[in-house]
Amino acid sequence: MSKQWWKEAVIYQIYPRSFKDSNGDGVGDINGIISKLDYLKELGIDVIWLSPVYQSPNDDNGYDISDYRGIMDEFGTMADWERLLAEMHKRGLKLIMDLVVNHSSDEHAWFVESRKSKDNPYRDYYIWRDGKEGGEPNNWESCFSGSAWKYDESTDQYFLHLFSQKQPDLNWENPKLREEVYDMMKFWLDKGIDGFRMDVINFISKVDGLPDAELPDGRKFAPGGDYYMNGPKIHDYLQEMNEKALSGYDVMTVGEMPGVNVEEAKLYTAEDRSEVNMVFQFEHVDLDSGPGGKWDLRPMKMSALRDSFTKWQKGLEHEGWNSLYLNNHDQPRMVSRFRNDKEYRVESAKMLATFLHTLKGTPYIYQGEELGMTNVRFDSIEDYQDIETLNMYREKVIENGEDQDLVMNSIYVKGRDNARTPMQWDDSEHGGFTTGDPWLKVNPNYTEINAEKAMEDPDSVFHYYRRLISLRKEYPIMVYGSYELLMPDHDRIYAYTRKYEGQTMIVMLNFSSENPVFKLPSEYESAGDLLIGNYGVEAGTDLREVELRPYEARVYLMK
Ligand code: NOJ
Repeated sequence: MSKQWWKEAVIYQIYPRSFKDSNGDGVGDINGIISKLDYLKELGIDVIWLSPVYQSPNDDNGYDISDYRGIMDEFGTMADWERLLAEMHKRGLKLIMDLVVNHSSDEHAWFVESRKSKDNPYRDYYIWRDGKEGGEPNNWESCFSGSAWKYDESTDQYFLHLFSQKQPDLNWENPKLREEVYDMMKFWLDKGIDGFRMDVINFISKVDGLPDAELPDGRKFAPGGDYYMNGPKIHDYLQEMNEKALSGYDVMTVGEMPGVNVEEAKLYTAEDRSEVNMVFQFEHVDLDSGPGGKWDLRPMKMSALRDSFTKWQKGLEHEGWNSLYLNNHDQPRMVSRFRNDKEYRVESAKMLATFLHTLKGTPYIYQGEELGMTNVRFDSIEDYQDIETLNMYREKVIENGEDQDLVMNSIYVKGRDNARTPMQWDDSEHGGFTTGDPWLKVNPNYTEINAEKAMEDPDSVFHYYRRLISLRKEYPIMVYGSYELLMPDHDRIYAYTRKYEGQTMIVMLNFSSENPVFKLPSEYESAGDLLIGNYGVEAGTDLREVELRPYEARVYLMK
């Protein structure tokens, strides 16, 4: 397996709206990011993935782009963005931009033209169809509730939108549209960026004829994923994108791919296929969803998490590459979702961090994760801003009369605003995020959990991340070592080895508040050097049997 800078990197995701406001309008901005680059440098990360900063009417906070070559006014100017890139490169940090080309905004000039008439030159930049039997062209459901089609009176046709009604899907069957996308990518590549994170990129090829999906009982619309995820031409499109846009630049790519399995991920990421370097797969973040989808809550079992990660670690052992994440701007906060965000918040956050940074793959840290930030509970739906959450609430509570408390509870557990509350910089009003009124309320726990406090405390989650990141730089085994599961049937301990060039590393993770005992298989020596752990440990501990404390994590390099 080849060595690559993007395999050795640790990536930090910034959701700009919520990161740092520099001008008091309540919305994070580019100058705010620049003011925190030294903080990120101190953390030790190598790359920033910047969620969209392009012109957008913000129906979906920038994932609805109206001008791919312009910077959103609320975030600053192109000159600010250029200064950000220069300031980052000066500090040895790389920048990857979000590429959102499954859909645009309905306010993009292409769509404004496209909807004007059936013979407009831009008509085929989008997916238009006649209605069927007085209704939508098919029964697909939007990822944000309701039909995936919207009727447009001016031409008496419907357009497809897999996300909101203001996010019409682009028609990748049209070679002209594809050329426009590649040109736009080169516009940013020529400015010197270091790669792209590609939004739902495995949705861009739809099955011919856009057939109806099987309709689940009692539902009006059907999740049509099988007809657009990993569609028939997806590999051709990605290979063409490489040939026409990416080749010739030393950049990294990560494709966001809901519904991708290990076999497909190998096809997407195998080095000789020139598609993407790695994918964001969703298997582990779907484990706590029932048949009704994301809002149909199920417990998150450690054994299921372990089975899933083990499958991916082994599956991509020789081909392709993993990306490692437990949260992002679409997922709840990891410490709340995967473990204990109350009395063992700090221990849990460190244990989960140990887990991610000792697996094979490239780790992604989502802003605030390095502080152990938690989910939020706002009493009123009025305090929520996310379109996915608000559409779901309207459909379930207002249109279908479902129980409001149950729906609010599902928002507390799964809503995307959990991750989007502003960064908690200090204990001043609004957590030091803004001097104005924040666009989304700050989590009230900012007085306790904030960056200033974390930086002053040598035992904080922040400093633990710093040590983990620097260990990855020191020990290539953490990046390239093979993975083997230990104690495969234990219901509280998740333990594994990594092996590389004659070295062995052992990782012990206690996913519970009990004191289970780790047992070392007899083929290993009973001694090792502790590389990192979230509790104090005496030197020279015999590793044959180790009683672990609540949410304890230890990493040993074996003698
Ligand atoms: C995935 C993005 O991460 C999410 O925030 C967005 O709503 C959808 N794609 C649509 O762009």
